[in-house]
Amino acid sequence: MSLANEIARRRTFAIISHPDAGKTTLTEKLLLYGGAVNLAGSVKARKNQRASASDWMELEKERGISVSSTVLQFDYEGFRVNLLDTPGHKDFSEDTYRVLTAVDSVVMVIDAGKGIEAQTLKLFEVCRRRGVPIFTFINKMDRPSREPLDLIDELEEVLKIGAYPMNWPLGSGQDFKGVYDRATKQAHFFERTPGGSYQAPVTVTSLADEAVRGQLSEELYMKVSEEIELLDIAGEELDPETTLAGELTPVYFGSAFNNFGVQLMLDSFLKYSTAPRPRQATMGTIHPDKEAFSGFVFKIQANMDPRHRDRIAYIRVCSGKFQRDMNVFHSRTKKKVRLSNSQKFFAQDRETVDEAFPGDVIGVVGQSEFGIGDTITEDPKVEFHAIPRFTPECFSFVHSSDTAQFKRFREGLRQLLQEGVVQALYLRNSAQRVPLLAAVGPLQFEVFEHRMRGEYRADTRQEPAPWTTMRWLDPELTEDQLDELVVPTNARIAYDSVERPVMVFSDDWAIDFFSQKNKGVAVSKLPFGEELTVENKDIFDSGS
Ligand code: G4P
Repeated sequence: MSLANEIARRRTFAIISHPDAGKTTLTEKLLLYGGAVNLAGSVKARKNQRASASDWMELEKERGISVSSTVLQFDYEGFRVNLLDTPGHKDFSEDTYRVLTAVDSVVMVIDAGKGIEAQTLKLFEVCRRRGVPIFTFINKMDRPSREPLDLIDELEEVLKIGAYPMNWPLGSGQDFKGVYDRATKQAHFFERTPGGSYQAPVTVTSLADEAVRGQLSEELYMKVSEEIELLDIAGEELDPETTLAGELTPVYFGSAFNNFGVQLMLDSFLKYSTAPRPRQATMGTIHPDKEAFSGFVFKIQANMDPRHRDRIAYIRVCSGKFQRDMNVFHSRTKKKVRLSNSQKFFAQDRETVDEAFPGDVIGVVGQSEFGIGDTITEDPKVEFHAIPRFTPECFSFVHSSDTAQFKRFREGLRQLLQEGVVQALYLRNSAQRVPLLAAVGPLQFEVFEHRMRGEYRADTRQEPAPWTTMRWLDPELTEDQLDELVVPTNARIAYDSVERPVMVFSDDWAIDFFSQKNKGVAVSKLPFGEELTVENKDIFDSGS
């Protein structure tokens, strides 16, 4: 198959939702329809183990299942589907953000009883700013639900985006009978299968059919007929262009648990979503059909197999064809490396990957220099924009509990920083060089502590620090100039892990005070000199 054909049949996406809306269930059902039936159970098992922070970490330690779900790849109707997993907890929003830089479209799951919830909104914002096409699945129609028209209105009003119902629910709660597909004008009835564990049988007829009327109460029949007529009178059609621009979201009603509407959504999603898209690099746009292979690292995970220490860099392929053993250029070190140990993951199995195409994700083992955001390419001129970090909001000093373990402590700290688990800063003018961990949410500190103990046999002790935000300072500032800064009492000067000066502050007021007292000294939510693309500029301006 030609490169163009391989690109055209790929769909790379992630599912976003507020916890409990049904992301895990939908993932499972998509695997069911994708033929990876035996896997469906493992996704659920993982989720259950994730119920609390400590369970989640235990499981992370085991690694097997977590690895599997970094990317789930399956073939369906000629498409090659890559479904990338995103962590559910808000403390890991930075990880989620990185994954979202590696997808071409997104499915947003909404609970029909609750509508848009806080976490949905936040993740949606990230996608919108990147112009990622968003497909909406309104889930749990078999439970007491809000009025479908209200849900559509809410999507439009809260998200400020067009919402186009692709299908319409026939009833809700106990009376949920199926969905009416607007494109084909056919009603799809579903039977409840025990536990929804196999594909739901479907009968297709038209809405006018007597068989349809017979299935619905007179009242319900009148209601849905009117609603559907109303939608048709509005006369809009799904515009593929605005959909791909992320300005209009196709909406599907259904019930993931009962397999209601899942296949209709999948088929339609594959049709209207996009094949791998071009990506911005410092030299301009890189198209997927560019012959030279290129990709970027969006995630690093170490010690997945406790028997042998390893470290996997996940690379999203952006252009050209990846082949095992190929020689590539690593942007950050400017070195040539040979990608010999490339793997793909599915469930607990690892499989060597011989070739991969744009949209695919490969895991490369043993390249200790690879870091998040790095470009890996055959063409040294290609360098993708850096993946910006979130500005930390939680700070904590970390000590090695036992001096005998200090070497392991240092090594663990180094590796976990490289993985992006947390960031580390060092206070200026401090007698001891104690690392000040910086994170978006406190759960990241717990994961850090747990992994230091579990993977590096290094016990740590944390000491909460009073700051709640930070800013980078101009790296050109000399030590003398730093000495002259007027620093509010509840702020400190520090250095990041590559010795760039930063300020940590206890509140926004302190930032204002600092700026007023040090006119002309610029502060920034991300390191100076890091390329700002339009998309990440928006995110940082929004103060996330
Ligand atoms: P998440 O990954 O977004 O956090 O949600 P998840 O899929 O785990 O779903 C959360 C709960 O909602 C689960 O129930 C799940 O079974 C249920 N659920 C998902 N889709 C539907 C649906 O279409 N209809 C109904 N009625 N329920 C749905 P749970 O009680 O937490 O787990 P379980 O005991 O059912 O496994």
